[in-house]
Amino acid sequence: MTEIVRIDHVSKVFVTGNEQISILVDVQLTVIAGTVVVVTGESGSGKSTLLNILGGLESASGGTVRVAGYRVHTLDEFELSAYRAHSLGLVFQFHYLLKDFTALENVMLPAYMAGIPRREALSRARELLQSVGLERRAEHFPAQLSGGERQRVAVARALVNDPDVVLADEPTGNLDERNSAVVRQILFDMVRSRAKTLVLVTHDAALASYADRHLVLAHGVLQPV
Ligand SMILES: Nc1ncnc2c1ncn2[C@@H]1O[C@H](COP(=O)(O)OP(=O)(O)OP(=O)(O)O)[C@@H](O)[C@H]1O
Ligand SMILES: [Mg+2]
Repeated sequence: MTEIVRIDHVSKVFVTGNEQISILVDVQLTVIAGTVVVVTGESGSGKSTLLNILGGLESASGGTVRVAGYRVHTLDEFELSAYRAHSLGLVFQFHYLLKDFTALENVMLPAYMAGIPRREALSRARELLQSVGLERRAEHFPAQLSGGERQRVAVARALVNDPDVVLADEPTGNLDERNSAVVRQILFDMVRSRAKTLVLVTHDAALASYADRHLVLAHGVLQPV
């Protein structure tokens, strides 16, 4: 049982003008490799802030963040890029696909940027698009896809560099109930079949029933349910 994520005493204070808002007070989290953790909490409780700290997109005000062998809180921008490229897959509420690139190219891009040869990137991307049921949409542009399809492309893209950890922030937040269920199932199946670790944050408590562990973020601390 490998501890792939370990957060100790993480705090986050936002300073606006002369006001200080303490969002994360003392967050503790350990995640065993290959498990699916869902963090729920009210809007504004700090879920996105916590996920962004895990992903090195925001820095913590205090505490330590270790993910997949990286001491994230100590990394500079250059090292953070390498960390994200090699160890992380990210899925957000909004797909962030590049509109001038096809579905296939969007999935390939992070692999390409990580220095993976074009042929290998292409074959990985094709296989992933097939896994999310979109092989026939490979040449389509984001504008030609439905919201659910775009999120499936985003899930495929998150896995193209074979990351240890997938971080997802409200990945089904923009979808109707049916598409939300499809994307949730694809994301969870892909992560589980590849033995990846998933940390997903959402206000949708229904998602928690599909997790191995459900934690709640409230008053700046994470607690088991
Ligand atoms: N850069 C910032 N400066 C000041 N306050 C911020 C900043 N980013 C976030 N906050 C505040 O921190 C709190 C937590 O925000 P966060 O986005 O992490 O919440 P959340 O749990 O993800 O909410 P939601 O469910 O609505 O997505 C909010 O009150 C927000 O206004
Ligand atoms: Mg949020």
